[in-house]
Amino acid sequence: MNPDDPALFDAVLARAGAHAQRHLETRNAQPIGATASVEDLRQRLFHPLPEKGLPPLNVIDDLVRDVTGGLHSMNTGRFYGWVNGGTLPAALAADILTTVWDQNAAMSSVAPAACMAEEVAGEWLKELFGLPSQTSFALVTGTQMAHVTGLAAARHCVLARKGWDVEARGLNGAPPLRILTSSERHGSLDRAVRLLGLGRDNIIVLPCGEDGRLAPDTLMGALTEHGDDALIVSLQAGDLNIGAFDDYATLVPLAHAAGAWVHVDGAFGLWAACSPTHRDRTEGLHLADSWSTDGHKWLNTPYDSGIALIADPQAHRAAMTYRASYMIVESDAREPMDYGPDWSRRARGFALYAALRELGRDGIAELIDRCCAMAAALVRGIGALNGAEIACMPSLNQGLLRFPSSKPGATQADHDARTDAVVTAINATGEAFFGGTTWRGQRCMRVSVCGWQTQACDVERAIRAVARVLQQADQAT
Ligand SMILES: Cc1ncc(COP(=O)(O)O)c(C=O)c1O
Repeated sequence: MNPDDPALFDAVLARAGAHAQRHLETRNAQPIGATASVEDLRQRLFHPLPEKGLPPLNVIDDLVRDVTGGLHSMNTGRFYGWVNGGTLPAALAADILTTVWDQNAAMSSVAPAACMAEEVAGEWLKELFGLPSQTSFALVTGTQMAHVTGLAAARHCVLARKGWDVEARGLNGAPPLRILTSSERHGSLDRAVRLLGLGRDNIIVLPCGEDGRLAPDTLMGALTEHGDDALIVSLQAGDLNIGAFDDYATLVPLAHAAGAWVHVDGAFGLWAACSPTHRDRTEGLHLADSWSTDGHKWLNTPYDSGIALIADPQAHRAAMTYRASYMIVESDAREPMDYGPDWSRRARGFALYAALRELGRDGIAELIDRCCAMAAALVRGIGALNGAEIACMPSLNQGLLRFPSSKPGATQADHDARTDAVVTAINATGEAFFGGTTWRGQRCMRVSVCGWQTQACDVERAIRAVARVLQQADQAT
């Protein structure tokens, strides 16, 4: 390969572009769920490591051939699994350019434009979510690492209040630190606690009410019981099953009065703050100390778009910042390395910036409202079918359905088994893709609508597919 060849990248980019275009053009005609088994993919991709390198065109053609059937069609209107959005056109294009530009967004002197796009995107996000103006932020890989970032700032702050410098002294001999959180939290919070050395056993799980929210009395009782410890309270803005929001206006002041730091998991739910229709659910959210969310869920950016927001920039920087002698620090620049756990990293701000400009304030509100309406239509439509039952109607974009067994004397295990079997059968049709979950001890089908492409016709098509599966199951019994 001659690096001076002006056409060096032309052929491979043209080929990748052609593959990408074909993928996007045919995406609605492909099965929505992946069809290839793990073993198929292993067989296909496990070529011997070549002794001599291969021409770029061959590498790309082989890759496209070998992953066939191993891709979920998330960027369609009929993917309702997990909490996954698609990718908006400008965000996709910006992400491709991010790779072409190949910037290392650790510091402004290394990647000036990337750092500035990130700075602007962060300011827009604070405005959209209605957070305090001094709030600092970090762009990280996902909500998982946003929790790590937010809880690192929290750890610094609550231990400093006890006279302990955790960055210098570590956790050996530190004052006890407990994390009070709800039974409906996402597992990424537990993992963040583990990664920060805070210890799983220090998570105090508080039971939620029927509405999925933490009751003030429950939190108050725990704050009193653990009043001598350093405390972090983690609340939920949209839990993964039913999209429940805690009552921040009541709970945050209680936690603050007890000297606790309040973190909020808003992986997707924080975006409700952008919709005049759903904003009331986030009342008092701005009172918290840190928030985690994702661009790659509801904003529909490509993956690798987590966002940590921290109301106390001093605590945030104390937990994260680092300087080395070879770094050039621009005096008037915001340095990403002061705020996130990465050193070298992708310039993930470009795609976020592009998505926010592409949608604008109104477009984001419309996206949120439409996804919520589509989730409600899906759950209502499927719930009306023979053999289906609504377990939880969406109050946001997440809802739950069950497919109970009609066997005489059917047990809970039979209902669970049939629910899982129906979800598998629906996904096997290739018409739509849903996930499963266990909610209040019962297996359910989870309906999650985050994708910008989901329209009424997709919902109708998905409901028809479920109806056919249920009819076939009826005929088989
Ligand atoms: C409520 C909630 N919190 C956290 C996460 C983890 O987010 P990520 O996968 O971006 O790390 C998820 C993922 O679905 C989620 O739904």
